[in-house]
Amino acid sequence: MSVAGVLLMALFARAAAQSPPAAAATPPRAVVLPPGNVEHGRYIAERVAMCVECHSGRDREGNIIDAERYQGASIPFIPPAWSQAWATRVPRNKGLAGYTDAMALRLLTEGSIGRDGTPLKPPMPRFRMTTQDAADVIAFMRSGS
Ligand code: HEC
Repeated sequence: MSVAGVLLMALFARAAAQSPPAAAATPPRAVVLPPGNVEHGRYIAERVAMCVECHSGRDREGNIIDAERYQGASIPFIPPAWSQAWATRVPRNKGLAGYTDAMALRLLTEGSIGRDGTPLKPPMPRFRMTTQDAADVIAFMRSGS
């Protein structure tokens, strides 16, 4: 077997030996969020991560309805054939109801882990933001604007 093959096998063996991700139902430990910048959070949510595109209701022409921004919606596209678990609806996310600071930070920095400690279904992207970007998005999502 080639050196690369042996290395690969060693890597797989190592991955297999590691315990499964400690997602579980235990809520994450309390954190102190850095102060969030609402405007930078809005920029990320609306210009970069595009939260608004999935989480908002649309009219018949496909335009986002102002009063339904971040209020939840049906999913705007069908699942690809390879997807096992595709969400059936996009929930309201304005306010981040039910998410403590620690849960909200975990959601945005550790690959979109939901309230119950398990990853949210696609097409919710797997976000791995910096702590500061996450704090900004959290500040925006919780703001009245
Ligand atoms: C491509 C579409 C898409 C984008 C973009 C998206 N989401 Fe989601 N989001 C979803 C879907 C679908 C779900 C539901 C997942 C499930 O049912 O497991 C979801 C779930 C959530 C939830 C869980 C709500 C709950 O009740 O637990 C939160 C919070 C959330 N999204 C926040 C965000 C934020 C913040 C952004 C932007 C930084 C974002 N989402 C971008 C599709 C998207």
